[in-house]
Amino acid sequence: MPDLSTEINRRRTFAIISHPDAGKTTLTEKFLLYGGQINLAGSVKGKATARHAVSDWMEIEKERGISVTSSVLQFEYNNKCINILDTPGHQDFSEDTYRTLMAADSAVMVIDGGKGVEAQTRKLFKVCGRRGIPIFTFINKMDREARDTFDLVDEIEKELGIATCPVNWPIGSGKDFKGVLDIPSRNVLLFSDTQKGTRQGEEEVIPLSDKETLKSRIGQNALESLLEEVELLEGAGVEFDQDQVDHGKLSPVFFGSALTNFGVEVFLQNFLSMTSSPLPRMSDRGEVDPVARPFSAFVFKIQANMNKAHRDRVAFMRICSGKFEAGMDVYHVQGGKQVRLSQPQQMMADDRHMVKEAYAGDIIGIFDPGIYSIGDTICMPEDTFRYSGIPTFAPEHFARVRQVDTMKRKQFVKGIMQIAEEGAIQVFQELSGGMEEVIVGVVGVLQFEVLQYRLKNEYSVEIRLEQLPYEHIRWIKSRDTDPEKITGTSDMKRIQDLKGNPLLLFVNAWSIGMTLDRNEGLVLEEFNEE
Ligand code: G4P
Repeated sequence: MPDLSTEINRRRTFAIISHPDAGKTTLTEKFLLYGGQINLAGSVKGKATARHAVSDWMEIEKERGISVTSSVLQFEYNNKCINILDTPGHQDFSEDTYRTLMAADSAVMVIDGGKGVEAQTRKLFKVCGRRGIPIFTFINKMDREARDTFDLVDEIEKELGIATCPVNWPIGSGKDFKGVLDIPSRNVLLFSDTQKGTRQGEEEVIPLSDKETLKSRIGQNALESLLEEVELLEGAGVEFDQDQVDHGKLSPVFFGSALTNFGVEVFLQNFLSMTSSPLPRMSDRGEVDPVARPFSAFVFKIQANMNKAHRDRVAFMRICSGKFEAGMDVYHVQGGKQVRLSQPQQMMADDRHMVKEAYAGDIIGIFDPGIYSIGDTICMPEDTFRYSGIPTFAPEHFARVRQVDTMKRKQFVKGIMQIAEEGAIQVFQELSGGMEEVIVGVVGVLQFEVLQYRLKNEYSVEIRLEQLPYEHIRWIKSRDTDPEKITGTSDMKRIQDLKGNPLLLFVNAWSIGMTLDRNEGLVLEEFNEE
């Protein structure tokens, strides 16, 4: 019987983030391949051919061939138990994506070597940065024409504000891609694209010191450029520093090609040794140690009706300490009640299987009869405490939403409220408004479509949606401010959240500054972290 601390310490729980099309799905597939979880990674997803990623669940995803929901995949590799929290990789994303990052102990950022840092990576990166978790960079698609390596690394440092430390270094790109130099061992790994989709095929390894052999393999020019670049790199003097990595201050950078499966396994191995086992998490009683404390978890995501065959709601929990056993009696802190966790599931695509036991670092899905909310703490009845809340993120798109058939008010309110509880949307009202018409705020516009679809399919309510031009939300934090008396710009809108907190919507950042200038003592905040 493995002991508790061995089980917990061999866990690695991380999220993969990227701008759409950078290769997150492909990289995930290759990881799974090494874990023996699926036979041929290529079978996981293909937009054009209507094959679907393992994480595609909802109908809407199938229709659009994209992945709307974040999923969790677990596999074993080299005696490590790996949990990948998959974040949607399409143009759009929701609060869900952000919250998933709250459940991860580290993040892998996939960047397209031909494109560099892109918009969505920047946004997701900001969230990782706020948490200070380790961030690893995988620069992908080196088999295609990539940008200058120094420029790429420089861009990450400048745009994302994090120091980088290349662990390997590419030799050419596109047609001239010859492989990578593994910096710590000073070995060159030669590229061959015979490994597409498989895990077979040896990577040829040649020490950098064996210049003759190298010259015969990669050519005089490539060797000269490589030696020059290595000299430059060494001159720059960036040293790997585990402590800096642990605190999200230094990002180890790897180069490779997920599609041709080059550099993926070395990346996985290095990453697993550099990333952390489950981290302690902050609570109202101080940090909770994953090994020393009995079972505890927090809910980071709630999802309804993932599978038509089970019309239910699943609360996803990240186990933060101890061991979970099916059927155990636990305490739901926010509900103030003892509950039995009787239908725990782990997810692999549509295929759910029951888990009998799980450990800190793992994610389980629990059948939710409607009692859980995002951020809730579950712990043992004899050792109760509350995990620090999950911040909500500022929506950037707003729409006025009303039901078409006013007779369906009850279903409309129920649907809107439940979907809001799941965290996919935020609901606001006019200052003197009721629930006949609400203003919905979302982080990514696709959520509007999801809302419309779900209200129709799950609650039989048709809605009319009118998108509004606002992009910035600010809660009014100065106590004495009367929202009606604020001298704002003409494009400003006054609304309130469902708790009655007043807030303002703006079309652009300039108007926020103007409004602050015009109203002395006005305090505005982007997040309402109460
Ligand atoms: P995402 O999840 O980040 O959105 O990206 P995904 O893995 O779906 O990859 C986007 C496209 O880029 C896919 O092509 C994929 O095959 C390709 N790709 C991923 N990694 C590499 C790589 O290392 N080299 C090259 N050359 N291409 C790569 P697609 O044609 O859009 O989709 P599919 O039909 O091939 O699945």
